[in-house]
Amino acid sequence: MNVILLGPPGAGKGTQAKRLVAKYGIPQISTGDMLRAALKEGTPLGLEAKKYMDAGALVPDSVVVGLVKERIQKPDCAGGYMLDGFPRNVSQAEVLDGMLVELGQKIDHVVCIEVPNEELLVRLTGRLTCRSCGGGFHLKFDPPQKPGACDKCGGELYQRDDDNEATVSSRLKTYADSTEPLINYYANQGKLRRIDGVGSMDEIFGRVTAILG
Ligand code: AP5
Ligand code: MG
Repeated sequence: MNVILLGPPGAGKGTQAKRLVAKYGIPQISTGDMLRAALKEGTPLGLEAKKYMDAGALVPDSVVVGLVKERIQKPDCAGGYMLDGFPRNVSQAEVLDGMLVELGQKIDHVVCIEVPNEELLVRLTGRLTCRSCGGGFHLKFDPPQKPGACDKCGGELYQRDDDNEATVSSRLKTYADSTEPLINYYANQGKLRRIDGVGSMDEIFGRVTAILG
């Protein structure tokens, strides 16, 4: 099963993807996580990407498309995968469609998680992420048992550089301008399923799994 998780910054794509990985045993492919990993390693690609990420803009398609093309051909993707944060504009979606034809694959479901902007801002400015395992928490909605430490691995929790109010507002604008058109793109392919992303994380998980089966 190949799935795309679509939705604005803070909608809960990463949160749900981690739960879906556990349920379906298919990997999460988050282009944002891949770019942050490249930055952590200090690669030229990561350093270049940071300029765009800090501005709340999209990293050039050529960079991201190459990463995804390589990733979806890895052996762990043979039984399916979950794309989180890719594609992010119509041209990435078109390239992905071409890639899928070439590889003899197809997307089965596109799940768009919808959350109002005011809620997204609260979610993002309170988000905490584990430096070691990538686990996600929230200061108010999902606080760690011990402040500053990951419940799962004890790693240090940090706030993403792009989770400040100014960058969040640019990211929301980028989403509206570049990514929202994908809703029509996938609706036209008959693959789009929209879900209400407001509610508890368990409730949202129930809504997503009701679609994926
Ligand atoms: P990326 O890392 O993909 O960020 P994003 O799309 O902005 O999405 P987020 O990761 O911020 O949100 P999420 O939906 O995963 O929410 P989460 O589950 O963490 O991209 C970052 C940057 O990289 C981009 O701006 C761009 O520059 C670049 N980039 C990435 N992909 C690219 C591409 N394809 N092309 C070009 N550039 C690209 O949840 C958020 C918080 O809310 C957490 O604290 C969580 O605990 C909490 N939460 C989750 N669900 C709930 C709930 N139901 N109730 C209450 N709180 C909740
Ligand atoms: Mg994410």
